[in-house]
Amino acid sequence: MNRTIIITGGAGFIGSHVVRLFVTQYPNYKIINLDALTYAGNLENLRDIENAPNYIFEKVNILDTAELERVFNQYQPDGVIHLAAESHVDRSIVSPLDFVYTNVIGTVNLLNAAKNLWSKLPASGHRLPTADCGLPTRFYHVSTDEVYGALGDTGFFTEETKYDPHSPYSASKASSDHFVRAYHDTYGLPVVISNCSNNYGPNHFPEKLIPLFINNIIHKKPLPVYGDGLYTRDWLYVKDHAAAIDLVFHKGKTGDTYNIGGFNEWKILTW
Ligand SMILES: NC(=O)c1ccc[n+]([C@@H]2O[C@H](COP(=O)([O-])OP(=O)(O)OC[C@H]3O[C@@H](n4cnc5c(N)ncnc54)[C@H](O)[C@@H]3O)[C@@H](O)[C@H]2O)c1
Repeated sequence: MNRTIIITGGAGFIGSHVVRLFVTQYPNYKIINLDALTYAGNLENLRDIENAPNYIFEKVNILDTAELERVFNQYQPDGVIHLAAESHVDRSIVSPLDFVYTNVIGTVNLLNAAKNLWSKLPASGHRLPTADCGLPTRFYHVSTDEVYGALGDTGFFTEETKYDPHSPYSASKASSDHFVRAYHDTYGLPVVISNCSNNYGPNHFPEKLIPLFINNIIHKKPLPVYGDGLYTRDWLYVKDHAAAIDLVFHKGKTGDTYNIGGFNEWKILTW
């Protein structure tokens, strides 16, 4: 079962777990980790697998269309798992345009690169001649449940929940979700999307909530809580998210959206 998959953002928090899972679990797949190594990317996250024979790293910015074209032509991927993004809500409030560039324009650049390559496929199916895996070619967009806005005191988001983004981060992710669906509806690009709740676990960037709080507690510093601290978020262990991404990539229905969560809802202030 041979596949060539480009995973974008593989040096980041979630992406590093997805890359490791695919490299170790599918030795017959060639995994290309495409990452610009911004402040959020760290190849230390992948030291243990960097010499694996089925792993390749490409330092590429998804805003660089010429480089994307080179990588897509060179490797002829039959799958893309797209995680590269500006992902820190606080930074989106300071620099919203960075989020428009990477999350919206960068995603459209990747969609174009996949469309340009896959439109050369025979009309019989979205599969490259090089892929003998019997699985469909697909562009998997990894997104967030923050596109749905705030959770109420009870209940969960569903795939039918209305989009209601409020931060520049969630607005940029919502926009990218819409573009991914538009490329499916307009050009027949074989896409699948998942929207996941907050992740926690190894390799989490230190300025994110859980590592920040742990660090501040260790150093006896105050814990910064925004607003009234009464908003509810669901939390999922990052390796469970990576396992869900594996499942959606292989078993998800083309054109569909899947919500991923932990049934693990907390208010920031729970006492
Ligand atoms: N962290 C969460 O709780 C969470 C929850 C649900 C969904 N998501 C989504 O999952 C994805 C990964 O999130 P994360 O927390 O691992 O992010 P992260 O910030 O830890 O990592 C992002 C990665 O993308 C790379 N990157 C950024 N801009 C790039 C560019 N222009 N070109 C190429 N690479 C670039 C960075 O170098 C980094 O390695 C994002 O799309 C995010 O929206 C995150």
